Amino acid sequence: MRIQVLPETLANQIAAGEVVERPAAAVKELVENALDAGARRIEVDLEEGGCRLVRVRDDGSGMGRVDAQLSLQRHATSKLRSKEELFSIATYGFRGEALPSIAAVSRFFLLTCEAGARSGTRIEVEGGRVLSVEDAGAPPGTTVEARDLFWNVPARRKFLKRAATEQAHSVEALLRLSLPRPEVAFTLREHGRVLLHLAAGDATPAQAARAEEALGREVRGRLLRVQAQVRGVRVHGLAASPDIERANASGVWLFVNGRAVRDRQLTHAVLRAYGEAMPHGRYPAAILFLQIPPRDVDVNVHPTKAEVRLADGRAAYEAIIAALRPPLAAGDWLHAARAAEVVGHGPAGAGAYASGGFEHAAGAAEGSTDYDSTLRFPGAAGWEDRQSTANASQAQLVPEQPYFGGVRYLGQLHRTYLVCEGPRGLVLIDQHAAHERMNYQRLRRAAAEHRGHVQPLLLPIVLRLAPASAARIAESSAELAAIGIEGEPFGNGSIAIKALPAPLASLHESTLGALLADLAEELSSFGHGESLDVRRDALLARAACHASVRANDGLAEDEAKALIAALDSTDFGARCAHGRPVVAEWPTAEIEKRFGRDYESYAHAAAPETI
Ligand SMILES: Nc1ncnc2c1ncn2[C@@H]1O[C@H](COP(=O)(O)OP(=O)(O)OP(=O)(O)O)[C@@H](O)[C@H]1O
Ligand SMILES: [Mg+2]
Repeated sequence: MRIQVLPETLANQIAAGEVVERPAAAVKELVENALDAGARRIEVDLEEGGCRLVRVRDDGSGMGRVDAQLSLQRHATSKLRSKEELFSIATYGFRGEALPSIAAVSRFFLLTCEAGARSGTRIEVEGGRVLSVEDAGAPPGTTVEARDLFWNVPARRKFLKRAATEQAHSVEALLRLSLPRPEVAFTLREHGRVLLHLAAGDATPAQAARAEEALGREVRGRLLRVQAQVRGVRVHGLAASPDIERANASGVWLFVNGRAVRDRQLTHAVLRAYGEAMPHGRYPAAILFLQIPPRDVDVNVHPTKAEVRLADGRAAYEAIIAALRPPLAAGDWLHAARAAEVVGHGPAGAGAYASGGFEHAAGAAEGSTDYDSTLRFPGAAGWEDRQSTANASQAQLVPEQPYFGGVRYLGQLHRTYLVCEGPRGLVLIDQHAAHERMNYQRLRRAAAEHRGHVQPLLLPIVLRLAPASAARIAESSAELAAIGIEGEPFGNGSIAIKALPAPLASLHESTLGALLADLAEELSSFGHGESLDVRRDALLARAACHASVRANDGLAEDEAKALIAALDSTDFGARCAHGRPVVAEWPTAEIEKRFGRDYESYAHAAAPETI
């Protein structure tokens, strides 16, 4: 066997296989370089989704001639000098391989100029071979062009998808880069046509505008600003209301120290925090920025730096839960109008508020100023500074007046919905879902406090079940006892119930029978994977369902009012235990439109008259 050192161009092509697997990866690397160079404006041009051309132009520091040449060599970086620094990385790049990798698999062109320099430098490379280095006039900053990606690596080129697909990847890549950097303006064009324009602005409105691009327009006015700190980990970000559901976790965007990361554990924390507010198998949308002291983050664990390793992953997990839970549990997202105030909306994130009526905007912006700078990579010192201001409270997110306290009950619709007048329009409440949510909470509390809330029955209730159900109930008696249902086999497919949690104590025998059959079914549907918590909650949700008024049940006025009032003190009051919505609103504006009472409907005709 003879061992040879690979020629540099070949080594670069091999490295390119990892670093740039598609045009979007080139976009990411080049834009990261621009951000590292301190750019405030970054323009990206694509042709054919980037397969023909990726061009990134920035107004950053630029490079002198010597550096420009060096930048194309492997392991040449200005960002890392010692081993120690590897554990306090505050730049996107540090490996010194992105430019040489891209240059090895494209027709590559670099034009760069330092501010105040008499002339810039222009370098042309083809497939890793430098064709020319010359002086050239250029504005301060850097432009990098990569044409015909993989032209010299046909095996790779084959894997490129349709231009539209590649383009979509680039759009997403740029959004990911832009979210933690609201102070930088980004533009993305395809063949000169603007696909994305993200104006720079104050953190909150600019981020809200970018979040809308990232998560879809439907999140407008339905984002809540969240924040928390657990040990050394600070979390802040935007959480979409739980009625925005996804089929997968693509709406969960996580950033660690400004770097977009994938992380199963942390994604799980987000799902966990939304927990009961989401129907089973559905995913929420949220954008969360974690700030962790750089020494506690290893960023050098993944070829494209898409993953990081955390010294205290548990703290990060808990911080995410702590940030999301209180506002979600309080149902603050019901206050759509308020939420819009909290996150603010500038015209395309221009940093100016779109219209009047933002009296709270100043407060919200104020609250966000201490985040502005942390969105950049915090230096160690900056980090310590901000620790003291970190425990900013949720106060501004908590509604002043409880939502359900502010609605007036009008009557029942189809014996299913409670019709109410709300401060901003018509409100319908699903009576079953509402009652179920309330009972769920009461049952949970009873289970947690256990003995105090479990009522022994004077006479056991003997229920006859299908043999399989009876067997399942009998073998799960400990699990059922944990939620306050105590029973034992009574022979012949029967179960004798001896104690029940208070909220179930008054149930009719037939309802109780149906409940037990349901619980048996729930118990047999459990796999081995579910934690005890999850199992317990699923059982409680079933129980709550049976304990609740149904659709088609008539409800006396005082019962309806009591139910509505109780919702304010119910966590997740706006979702039933199965994640269905409890309440829906029809804004007055919408109603007025229906009746042609809004000014716009009249605008083309005569001025509106009072009718
Ligand atoms: N747009 C730019 N403006 C100014 N300097 C740049 C720019 N792009 C690259 N450089 C310089 O070239 C060097 C090499 O860039 P390259 O992306 O290859 O490596 P890196 O960013 O240091 O590390 P990584 O490979 O992890 O991205 C950088 O360290 C930086 O000094
Ligand atoms: Mg780089």
